[in-house]
Amino acid sequence: MMSTLGAAPVPGEPDHLIRPDLGAKTPVFVRGEGVELIDEQGRRYLDAASGVGVTCLGYGVAEVVEAMQAQAEQLCYLHALRFEAPPTRELSDLVAAVTPGDLDHVFFVSGGSEANESAFKFVRQYWLERGEPGRWRIIGRWPSFHGNTLATLSAGWHLARRKRNAPLLLGFPHVETPNCYRGCGHCRATGTCTLACAEELERTLIEVGPESVAAFIAEPVVGAAAGGLVPPPGYFTAIRDICDRYDIVFIADEVITGFGRLGSWFGVEQFDVQPDILVFAKGIAGGYAPLGGFAARTSLIEAFLEGSGRFEHNFTYAGHPVCVAAGAAVVKILQRDRLVERVASLERHFFEALRGHLDGLPIVGDVRGMGFLAGVELVADRASRIPFPPQAAMSTRAASYCLDHGVIVYPCAGGIDGEAGDYLLLMPPFVTSVDALDEMAERTGRALGRLHAEMT
Ligand SMILES: Cc1ncc(COP(=O)(O)O)c(C=O)c1O
Repeated sequence: MMSTLGAAPVPGEPDHLIRPDLGAKTPVFVRGEGVELIDEQGRRYLDAASGVGVTCLGYGVAEVVEAMQAQAEQLCYLHALRFEAPPTRELSDLVAAVTPGDLDHVFFVSGGSEANESAFKFVRQYWLERGEPGRWRIIGRWPSFHGNTLATLSAGWHLARRKRNAPLLLGFPHVETPNCYRGCGHCRATGTCTLACAEELERTLIEVGPESVAAFIAEPVVGAAAGGLVPPPGYFTAIRDICDRYDIVFIADEVITGFGRLGSWFGVEQFDVQPDILVFAKGIAGGYAPLGGFAARTSLIEAFLEGSGRFEHNFTYAGHPVCVAAGAAVVKILQRDRLVERVASLERHFFEALRGHLDGLPIVGDVRGMGFLAGVELVADRASRIPFPPQAAMSTRAASYCLDHGVIVYPCAGGIDGEAGDYLLLMPPFVTSVDALDEMAERTGRALGRLHAEMT
């Protein structure tokens, strides 16, 4: 029976869609062109968020659409547990060629949460293959975000997304994520960075018993959980060293940073470190299709080959032929048009433009990030770095001011203590022109200036 329960954006008209805000109307966009989105009234907006760090090539790239159409016509679906379509093999070769070192063994799923979840199961089975069934814990960091499934929520630490599900979560330990703007517990107390944030991993390992730990997971640069936090120099090499000493698998969650977002193919390259598993999603298919996966080092695959010879895990849509065809087309365009190099060469301009328009604003505490991933931290007081009270919902308000000024940015919150901390993420498509980058920065600055003026 058709029910009219729930949101009714147009009074009197039945509406059956469950939206995040039940009862509120979500803006409707009908078209994407280049780096712009067009709403149902025909208004154009610069998409400075690439959706949510996804549409690295921008909208409407015919080449990708044609590759998907050709694959759908040829063979729309295959069950990857038992069969293989040609673009799946092709994309695994492309991924192996761009991932660092011997991260040469690739498994595909449909998105970032599934990819991290699959990586956890792969690691768990790896330890079973090695005859160590006691290893199950994944050590994560706070704040961090690794996905919205129950195991990935357990490994991550994004309070707003975790708290309602607390009884369902696994008891994974967490260590503090370095925060060079606010300092971690140690540097807040002493005023100096000694990489105590990395040492905390060793202390935690000893506390819970390394023989119970399967893996450590971290984002090279934190995305939605804390707005573009970049680690201090030496952090990830110290982490790698601890993982090596205690024989712990190091998982780099590159769902948001991977495939060029930081101006290198993968974020870990910026920090001179080789993970054992690298998880990816978002940019690999540029938003043209849902796609994610992970790449594992040869030594891990060898444990399977010497053991059961089989990875026991699958989803119906894992390695969907049309999605991997989209991924292959996107990666080939990234390579051919040297778009990762383009991000690296424009990083400085992008951050100078942002700082030029934002630095003087009283509500902007910090502008940080790498490549085309910029985090803007909003504060109630610049000098003391006091955040806004969570109930002010400043990041959401700021993002809607940006929307009114014709620029789409991504609001996120809670990175300080789970509730306080307001950020805007700007993650433009890699093809954004210099003029459009300037315009994104200018519109964001104007929107935040207006918001501040209306608050005082
Ligand atoms: C670092 C990171 N990991 C995992 C995820 C989850 O990916 P998905 O939303 O595709 O499940 C995200 C999504 O924003 C992310 O940024």
